[in-house]
Amino acid sequence: MVGNIEVAPQCTWGTVKMPGDGLLISIDGPAGSGKSTLAIALGKRLGLEVLDTGAMYRAAALLVLQHGIDVTSDMTDTSDSQVASLVHGCSIEVGPRVLLDGVDVTDAIRTHQVDMLVSRVAAIPAVREDLVARQRAWIAVHDGGVVEGRDIGTVVAPDADLKVFLVASDEVRIARRAAERGMPADLSLSGVVQGLLGRDRIDSARPVGALPDAVRMRTLEQEDNVLVIDSTSATAVTVLDTVMAKIKEMRLIDAV
Ligand code: DC
Repeated sequence: MVGNIEVAPQCTWGTVKMPGDGLLISIDGPAGSGKSTLAIALGKRLGLEVLDTGAMYRAAALLVLQHGIDVTSDMTDTSDSQVASLVHGCSIEVGPRVLLDGVDVTDAIRTHQVDMLVSRVAAIPAVREDLVARQRAWIAVHDGGVVEGRDIGTVVAPDADLKVFLVASDEVRIARRAAERGMPADLSLSGVVQGLLGRDRIDSARPVGALPDAVRMRTLEQEDNVLVIDSTSATAVTVLDTVMAKIKEMRLIDAV
């Protein structure tokens, strides 16, 4: 256990990547851009462990719901600090299952209620500070890994070996999220549409840890270790192949 985050191994080390080599890959992007699919595939391919930081923010939002703190109206400083101290005192274990204070909340963090609240909780600076520290501790303990979220390549681990940013059209992202939730990919599903786009707006507009906008993305793209991929019409296999090609080009690993 590191701080308040317990770190459960997700993948075993493969022959290519050995512990101690410290390869760290960040994947950032909005909901439905294909982050989790890519992170899991890359982790398997490279024998690296994977951290879904969105699950940590979701667990924090669930905790707020469980304690009945009212954050439905604009957050006040009081509710902000109440939430921050609640989160500070909890343990979050993110592995194949997600445990909040030892209780399995893997399914409970994917409900509509959590969807509607999580961006607000993730916008509280003290909550971000806390969870960013836990994410850095996870990276240190695992000596790298594949870490996915919104601010991994920009805030949590700006020195990552490879920083991947995924983008995709709103329509495709909404359809993917609806499919994930077992709903028909009908764009008139206003709950999914409004929820996802509304969360994106909050995630992109907050003063700390915001998802880079298009202008910032173009600047980031100039860096040698940055890869921006538009997954709108790409399959998961194509996206993985693009990232693997970049890893080979950068000679981050000997062979795959
Ligand atoms: O990736 P996801 O949809 O499960 O993320 C859930 C929420 O957490 C979403 O509103 C963005 C936020 N988040 C964040 O602010 N920073 C991260 N590193 C990861 C997720």
